[in-house]
Amino acid sequence: MANDRATTTPPGSAPSGAPTAGAPGATGPGAEIYLDYCTSCHNAKMRSLDQTRFTRVQWKTAIEKMISMGTQLSSDEVPPLLDYLVQTHGAPEDEAKRDNSVR
Ligand code: HEC
Repeated sequence: MANDRATTTPPGSAPSGAPTAGAPGATGPGAEIYLDYCTSCHNAKMRSLDQTRFTRVQWKTAIEKMISMGTQLSSDEVPPLLDYLVQTHGAPEDEAKRDNSVR
């Protein structure tokens, strides 16, 4: 795979822990994996994930579900994809915990 483009500029000054509601400019290996494997079924027109906010664990579960449905993701592509999804569509862990204990 040719990967000559200079796409390594990080988002920069985002403080870790601050939830960013959708980072449209996110780039990197995870973003490319997402484009390659997920947007054929999840895009603005179809099953949009734009509003989805999952914790890391929830994303991992969802990725595993997609793999079991036939998405041909290799195991070393999961971690960067997970990082990308948590960065761009993350939910605070303790909010999920609270949800679980409430119901
Ligand atoms: C072949 C089409 C297809 C591909 C490729 C695909 N999905 Fe899905 N995805 C679906 C369908 C269909 C559902 C609904 C499944 C269901 O409700 O049981 C779904 C559901 C989901 C959900 C909701 C899961 C839940 O339990 O609520 C998430 C999140 C998701 N996909 C993420 C992804 C990610 C991330 C990728 C890329 C790794 C991906 N999908 C690739 C078809 C696809």
